[in-house]
Amino acid sequence: MSQITYQFEYESRLRCAFIGAGGHSYRNVYPSFQYAPIDLVAVCDQQADRAATYARMFGGGNSYDDHHKMLEQERPDAVFIVTSYDEDGRVQATDLALDCLAAGVHVWMEKPTAASVAEIRQLQAAAESNDRVVMTGLKKIFTPAMTKAKSITESEEFGGITSITVRYPQSLPDQEAKQDPRRLIGFLDHIYHPGAVLTYLGGKATRFSYEQDPVAGGSVSTLRFESGAIGSLHLAGGAASTSPLERVEVVGRGANLVIEDGVRLTYYRPGAKLGYGRSGSYIVDDDVAPLIWQPEHSLGQLYNKNLFYLGYVAEILHFCEAVQNGTAPVKGTLDQSLSIMHLFDAYRRTSPGQTVDLPLPD
Ligand SMILES: NC(=O)c1ccc[n+]([C@@H]2O[C@H](COP(=O)([O-])OP(=O)(O)OC[C@H]3O[C@@H](n4cnc5c(N)ncnc54)[C@H](O)[C@@H]3O)[C@@H](O)[C@H]2O)c1
Repeated sequence: MSQITYQFEYESRLRCAFIGAGGHSYRNVYPSFQYAPIDLVAVCDQQADRAATYARMFGGGNSYDDHHKMLEQERPDAVFIVTSYDEDGRVQATDLALDCLAAGVHVWMEKPTAASVAEIRQLQAAAESNDRVVMTGLKKIFTPAMTKAKSITESEEFGGITSITVRYPQSLPDQEAKQDPRRLIGFLDHIYHPGAVLTYLGGKATRFSYEQDPVAGGSVSTLRFESGAIGSLHLAGGAASTSPLERVEVVGRGANLVIEDGVRLTYYRPGAKLGYGRSGSYIVDDDVAPLIWQPEHSLGQLYNKNLFYLGYVAEILHFCEAVQNGTAPVKGTLDQSLSIMHLFDAYRRTSPGQTVDLPLPD
């Protein structure tokens, strides 16, 4: 990711088609193609005029209002799917991904991958039987800050992860509303972000409980991971919309790191000695002092463009590399989506104060 290649500089590019010409894809996904080995050959949206407009704007060749027709006529290597929800709360992209796999096409899809554990398993089976890649754009685990944080937690000096806390603003519907998939759309839509971070850093969660505030729907959960580490997820429903959304803290042994607002990473390195009662200065030796990374916002650089610091370009490059090299992606995998769905399921099927082992039985 340190040296970016512009799209037109790639010697070989994937023939890609796109399903969905909506708001998010306009802002963040099509523009990321400028930095990926992608030849956009077709755009499909049920709104034919939108598909034609996006095809023209993003160099997408032909436009369609029916994805079956597009798959048949274009025979792309891969399809990007950025669609929305059906009225009953189903994730439109899930069935579209199954159709693409059946047509022998690799799939990159926006989160949420699906609305249930069973649907993720269906996608896993279809990906395997058709020998195709399915990747979800879990952007939070592709940000430069998170990528660096992950490598710090894997370093010997960090001492292994002992605990993790993640804060993200999101309300959880009450017990009655949770039974209605339509009223869970907002929660499903957003749990993928902190859920991806917890899964990426902590691995599989094996125990879960939460408390919920009855006014704003905020919640705090405690988690235990297979590794033995513990974690908490503070879903700060009720937070101001002007507030930074996120804070992630990972603690090792005598070392910890914090990511504020998705971009500012501080690593409190191990080894500093500040004897209690006699230390007149908090300045420690340079080789054990905290390290801070944050972007400057003055230069016309790629790193201070949201397509990069929010992880969009990186998640697309990861997919393209997997398809071009014939390897499986290691981030945005269906296994990671499955872990997130297990967490979603636990919020959906348990009551505040209840402690359960994860995953819940089907
Ligand atoms: N990762 C992120 O940062 C982020 C941010 C916002 C949204 N999203 C995700 O992006 C997705 C889209 O969100 P949005 O706000 O752009 O939605 P949107 O409603 O603006 O766009 C969806 C588009 O898909 C089209 N569509 C639906 N079914 C179709 C089908 N069968 N064939 C062809 N076209 C079809 C619709 O006509 C619409 O134009 C959601 O899954 C959302 O969770 C992700």
